[in-house]
Amino acid sequence: CAKKDNQTTATGAGNSGSAEKKLITVGYAQVGAESDWRLANTQSFKDTFTEANGYKLIFDDAQQKQENQIKAIRNFIQQDVDYIVVAPVVETGWETVLQEAKDQRIPVVLSDRQMKVSDDSLYLAWVGGNFLKEGRDGVKWLEAYLESTGRANDQINIVDLQGTIGASAQVGRTKGIVEGIEAHSNWNLVAQQTGEFTQAKGQEVMESILKSVDKIDVVFAENDDMGRGAADAIKAAGKVPGKDIILITFDAGKDAFDRVINDGTFNCTVECNPLHGPRVAEIIKTLEAGGTVDKIQYVVEEMFDKDGIGGARKAADALPERKY
Ligand code: AHR
Repeated sequence: CAKKDNQTTATGAGNSGSAEKKLITVGYAQVGAESDWRLANTQSFKDTFTEANGYKLIFDDAQQKQENQIKAIRNFIQQDVDYIVVAPVVETGWETVLQEAKDQRIPVVLSDRQMKVSDDSLYLAWVGGNFLKEGRDGVKWLEAYLESTGRANDQINIVDLQGTIGASAQVGRTKGIVEGIEAHSNWNLVAQQTGEFTQAKGQEVMESILKSVDKIDVVFAENDDMGRGAADAIKAAGKVPGKDIILITFDAGKDAFDRVINDGTFNCTVECNPLHGPRVAEIIKTLEAGGTVDKIQYVVEEMFDKDGIGGARKAADALPERKY
């Protein structure tokens, strides 16, 4: 999957006079715009892959559909881009299109979610969050929180609001909570349904679960946006999110921080860092210089709550450093 030597020659923005600069063309097949996380991720790519930095970015929003992403990748191949970057909506079903890119000697870098492919030479590298660890961290926090509130031996009814089914972010986080439930005989999974990583769907699903399940102690919302939707549904049902029902979310965006610190409607938020633009640029820079990169690159992530329980950091302490 060696890189071709056919970069676009163009006048670089910001260059004085007629100085010419070789722009590296990067096609980014983005999942969509389903969440705050995704918007921050898109911005990170747009801010990084600028002409001033030596790139031409071709951005495609797949609206959460794999077939759109496959079309986008084929378009990138037709346009003979230098690199293809994919944040795959789901894990499986990529072999054919990645083989087409490989046949044209266009390197593919994965970012954010992972792919499960039979031949891992179909992509050069992946960088993103460790979703299973994130799920397990949420479980660790819940264990510690129940212990600290004297509820360790109570029956605990848990709702898992899942992300897009088949997305590695969903697969890892769901595995984390399911393992946690299996390890605690008093934890019960009372509902498990996808909210597709959106606030609206998260709210709709939570409203219907609240109608059919009498006692809910915990909502494990697999992203902040669904957590917000769940909080609204819980309020509408006459309960207090964060008090009557414990809310654990994933991403740790600005709004989640605000809720953990100020109104308490989220109890804990587990970080999933979206700022992958510079990380992917670093991979491309290394490859351009003829170097090699680690195939799998996990980003270090933390979790945050109000009081620093179960390995979480106090959100108020971390707030000044937060960038998204
Ligand atoms: O793949 C990362 C996940 O996708 C984020 O947790 C979620 O908010 C996004 O939509």
